[in-house]
Amino acid sequence: MHKGFTLWFTGLSGAGKSTLSERIHRRLLDAGARVELLDGDEVRTHLSKGLGFSREDRDTNVRRIGFVAELLSRNGVIAITAAISPYRDTREEVRRRIGSFVEIFMDCPIEVLAERDVKGLYKKALAGEIPHFTGVSDPYEPPLQPDLHVDSSSEDIAVSEERVWNLLKRMDLIPVSW
Ligand code: ADX
Repeated sequence: MHKGFTLWFTGLSGAGKSTLSERIHRRLLDAGARVELLDGDEVRTHLSKGLGFSREDRDTNVRRIGFVAELLSRNGVIAITAAISPYRDTREEVRRRIGSFVEIFMDCPIEVLAERDVKGLYKKALAGEIPHFTGVSDPYEPPLQPDLHVDSSSEDIAVSEERVWNLLKRMDLIPVSW
């Protein structure tokens, strides 16, 4: 019906990783796919509980998510992940290990993120109250060649969903009849 693969969302907090990944997750479920969603915030309350935001802890978090995604993918399940995953070489390491890996870059200018500030974290980070906040006081290394680049500040979410869906078909990962 479909292959096992990993759909990896990366981008800053608030850029839309969770929203878009949830829509794709729902659409795959509705189509009858076997799919799991590993959301960064949720992973940090279970699998990665106790980890902080140092480079070392983020890498550990990302490698754990990659490990679970690999187990799922190689058993024919679609694994969707949505963590900031800020470091390029760590994402590449996970990509190499998994093989069947699709990278979606959720891009959004920092000014727009700070303006939206859904969780109220950018205001605090910009005021210096959160050290090592990604995009403000900690690095984010954008993918150089993502499989898909989404600018969530200018693109409607329904359009982004359609682009991801069509990409999966083009890559022969889901049936064209879906
Ligand atoms: S990652 O860097 O390890 O991939 P992850 O996606 O799991 O990050 O967690 C990011 C979420 O943690 C953010 O959406 C935000 O809600 C919260 N958070 C708390 N502190 C920070 C920080 N210093 N930098 C980034 N996100 C933070």
